[in-house]
Amino acid sequence: MRKKIIAGNWKMNPDFAQGIELIEKIKTTAIPLIEGDGVQILIFPPYIYLNEFAGKLSTTKIGLGSQNVASTKNGAYTGEISASMLKSMQIKYCLIGHSERREYFNEDEKLLLQKIKLLLDENIIPIYCCGERLTDRQNNEHFAIVKDQISKIFLELTREEAKKIIIAYEPVWAIGTGVVATPQQAQEMHAFIRNEIRIIFDEEVAEGTSILYGGSVKASNSAELFSCNDIDGALVGGASLLPDDFCGIIKNSI
Ligand code: PGA
Repeated sequence: MRKKIIAGNWKMNPDFAQGIELIEKIKTTAIPLIEGDGVQILIFPPYIYLNEFAGKLSTTKIGLGSQNVASTKNGAYTGEISASMLKSMQIKYCLIGHSERREYFNEDEKLLLQKIKLLLDENIIPIYCCGERLTDRQNNEHFAIVKDQISKIFLELTREEAKKIIIAYEPVWAIGTGVVATPQQAQEMHAFIRNEIRIIFDEEVAEGTSILYGGSVKASNSAELFSCNDIDGALVGGASLLPDDFCGIIKNSI
């Protein structure tokens, strides 16, 4: 059975002192919830907090990930952080292709594939985000858009590489808007994505791939989402900064 994953994407929030307070609160509340093996919690704080947080979480089952990685190896790329640097800090996960990076930093699948390959070379698990914009859905092009985002990456991976990837379906119209996809809309797209993986590879890869939903997930709407067959957890933005709400989401996933 696929393990449930609840991931918190802090984006460019909060400042360091508030971040420490938040991670301590999440630790205290979440650790008793995840004693069994039912759910994996991952936190994606800003890069510069990773080292401090790694120390704080080292004795817990809460994992840490990076929100981004450079698309090139090491060298003269001012301001960038490489996959090998993340590996050297024991970071095990990295978000790739978040819609904010696609939109504000012009990241396309060609660049995202380079990042994924570099991460896989360092044994870091990519969480590959995909999802359509509101106009795509209004024009009934949402399946075609997501198919394109999935196939441009997965057709370029080996079966062994594909098995390592976690997918997050995040409809852009639901991110930070308070408008959550209905469980039916989310389930339908998750099943579609899983089927695309089945077509590219096979049943075993498709059934083994965790597909998270993201977009205005809260404690109050998460139980219904998690009751869907193909929803294996959540990538949470805003609510991951609110410890009670975040831990409520974790509870609903167990
Ligand atoms: P949100 O963000 O939960 O605030 O909608 C989700 C995300 O961007 O991953």
